[in-house]
Amino acid sequence: MRFYVPTDIYVEKNCVKNHAKDLLAIGKRALVMTGRSSAAANGSLIDVTEVLKAGEIPFQIFNEVEENPSTDTVGKALQIARDFNADYVIGIGGGSAIDAAKAVALLLSNPDLHADELHKVPQNPLDHVPVVAVPTTCGTGSEVTPVAIITNRKINLKKSIPHVIFPTLALVDGKYLASAKKTLIVNTAVDALAHMVESILNVKSNTLNRMCPEYGLKLWGEYKDTLLSDSDVDESLYEKLMFTSTIAGMSIAQTSTAVPHGMSYDLTLHAGVPHGPAVGYFLAAYTEVCAKFVPQDVAKILSLLQLQNIGEFYEMLRHLIGTCTVTRQMRDNFAAAMKVNHSKLDLVPGSITAKDIDYIYEKSLVVE
Ligand SMILES: [Fe+2]
Repeated sequence: MRFYVPTDIYVEKNCVKNHAKDLLAIGKRALVMTGRSSAAANGSLIDVTEVLKAGEIPFQIFNEVEENPSTDTVGKALQIARDFNADYVIGIGGGSAIDAAKAVALLLSNPDLHADELHKVPQNPLDHVPVVAVPTTCGTGSEVTPVAIITNRKINLKKSIPHVIFPTLALVDGKYLASAKKTLIVNTAVDALAHMVESILNVKSNTLNRMCPEYGLKLWGEYKDTLLSDSDVDESLYEKLMFTSTIAGMSIAQTSTAVPHGMSYDLTLHAGVPHGPAVGYFLAAYTEVCAKFVPQDVAKILSLLQLQNIGEFYEMLRHLIGTCTVTRQMRDNFAAAMKVNHSKLDLVPGSITAKDIDYIYEKSLVVE
């Protein structure tokens, strides 16, 4: 058994300021990558740039990372990083900004590699310049995973790139959730939930790496009623939400995500569904199918979430993210692609059949 997360992780209020020294020690010139507005609105960008200014670290901001970052965006940021001679990359935001920062960090160290070639499997592991991650949503976990999900729009492919890029430093502060809408908090919390469930319902799950998802699911179960209620999320829960998301990231760093994530990418790419709900639509049906193989694990997950049975799991997710409608053609195409997606199917803790996959799609998506 092995547990491996080489990232230096701090989870606390005012984390960026408290650990300014760590942030400044990583490099000499920083590229700061964010989305268009949220990092400015939630205070994370100003926290980071104040530290960089005080430490006299020159920096350049690239604030054009979109949801589902593309190879084109990565290429654009890379050019700016090269022109600026950046020797480390700071990603501030949700998974998109952090994943794009990882891709730029890889390309900066590998001048022969083009952004459009990021999905090609390398012959040998590739180096990268250091990455600092400052998450501002409570779902991605990218601050502690080696994974970067990048979309190549030229070939309609949304997938993790096959490179190991753990951030050197993760600065996790729940206060950045204060300006987030409830829908964003719910959607990203569902993503974190999926990371933990898929980490347990996974052939790579073992007693060592299970510590993370089991503890995280317990926390999730404790605040699930707040997510389900109509009221706003109380400030006192921000750190717990963010902490769970980081724990969920540590979970998939050991096992990787499983079938629901594999199914979600087509839904996002072809139907524009945000990542959290796209994963969440498949989660209960995947859990139900896995109950045939590992009933005791499913029972444990439900008990940690304070749910009585799988029916309550379906109901909870439906309440949180609603339903998703697609055409029959889309659903058939998605199912056909999933049936040959062995990178995810091989992680199922049992012999999943084509019939099981069809069942998951039938239970998870509404056909118009
Ligand atoms: Fe995810």
